[in-house]
Amino acid sequence: MLLLRGAAEVVTPPVTSKPLSGKAMGEVERHPNTDILIENDKIVAVGRDLESLASKVIDVSGKVIVPGFVDPHTHLVWSGSREHELEWKLKGRTYQEILADGGGILRTVKETRNSDFSDLKAESLLRFNNAIKHGSTTIEIKSGYGLERDTEIKQLKVANWLGSLGLAETVVTFMGAHALPEGSERFSYINQIIEMLPDVREFSDFCDVFCEEGAFTDNEARKILEAAKEHDFSLKIHADEFGDTGGGKLAAELGVVSADHLAGSTLETIKELQKAGVIGVLLPGTPFAILSDKFSPARKMIANNLPIALATDCNPNCYTESMQFIQQLAVFRMKMTPAEALVASTINAALAIEKTDRGCIAEGWRADLLICDIPDYRHLTYHFGVNHVETVIIGGKVIDA
Ligand code: NIG
Ligand code: FE
Repeated sequence: MLLLRGAAEVVTPPVTSKPLSGKAMGEVERHPNTDILIENDKIVAVGRDLESLASKVIDVSGKVIVPGFVDPHTHLVWSGSREHELEWKLKGRTYQEILADGGGILRTVKETRNSDFSDLKAESLLRFNNAIKHGSTTIEIKSGYGLERDTEIKQLKVANWLGSLGLAETVVTFMGAHALPEGSERFSYINQIIEMLPDVREFSDFCDVFCEEGAFTDNEARKILEAAKEHDFSLKIHADEFGDTGGGKLAAELGVVSADHLAGSTLETIKELQKAGVIGVLLPGTPFAILSDKFSPARKMIANNLPIALATDCNPNCYTESMQFIQQLAVFRMKMTPAEALVASTINAALAIEKTDRGCIAEGWRADLLICDIPDYRHLTYHFGVNHVETVIIGGKVIDA
């Protein structure tokens, strides 16, 4: 048993099995002078002056405790880097122009295909540890830098290996439909992806498609995702990153678990997603990284009761592992409140990857907790650009990442 004694405040979304939306996204519970008792990987009590015979006690006086952050959208298993593209972006080249010239995703595909399994593990582990240090306790990871069977499987195996280390848990997504590989013909590559599905199923739970101009059309995405459904994958879509180009509407039509990006979605699409029960995963690091002001219309989404989650999108174009930085962008650039940003990074993010046991601090919930060296939870976003997480507890264990 582990006792966290005397937190200045324990802050949590209200306990729920459904994602929070609308006004409820902005209402967190704040419990002052509170203890948390943990047994094995679960929280067994939350309250004042808990009596306990815990073998280990951590004095958390003056600290804030929040649920561990869930990062429901990353591409963090890759090789190489793309710092030169930042200079191209500064000169005005767009993300899609860079991709069409064989840069962007296609550049990372070359480097990931050429890296051996142990190098890919080592590079990815550095980022994984960075994510944990900044408070991520469950991390979704996608493939999509192989675009052929063996490299896709190599990436998926690394993502599973990271999850087996007893650090953060991983949820793994197959994304063979990330870009059209150089030299491939569209129709035949789409069929290859569909043929890979049974082989990658043992390594991944979700299937995702980049549905956008320059990537895959809505009809192509529908074909791939319908096939994935037959193999019992849960579904996600990279949708409406640059404009309302059909991905958001397809997400609503298929009733996917989450539609991610949604920077270009219209009000009509937002309403369709809401009706279909889809969670919007917003990735404000991405417009930031492409020097764009086009952030997802979070306020419009909240006003229309679409539940939203936040994620880093950690990838060589948008290179951050920090969910704290993402919450800060959400507040400063999308005008979400600190409470909404916290809900979007905990319970709603957990439900966006179908995890129902984490994201709240209450009896019976998984003991994924962050001890933060701040006087009030709002400092997580108000005081930006520094790491507020002092101690990370995952599944009841203090983690040294
Ligand atoms: O979510 N948009 C597509 N995929 C990633 C970017 C991957 C990359 O640029 O390497 C994203 O932004
Ligand atoms: Fe992405």
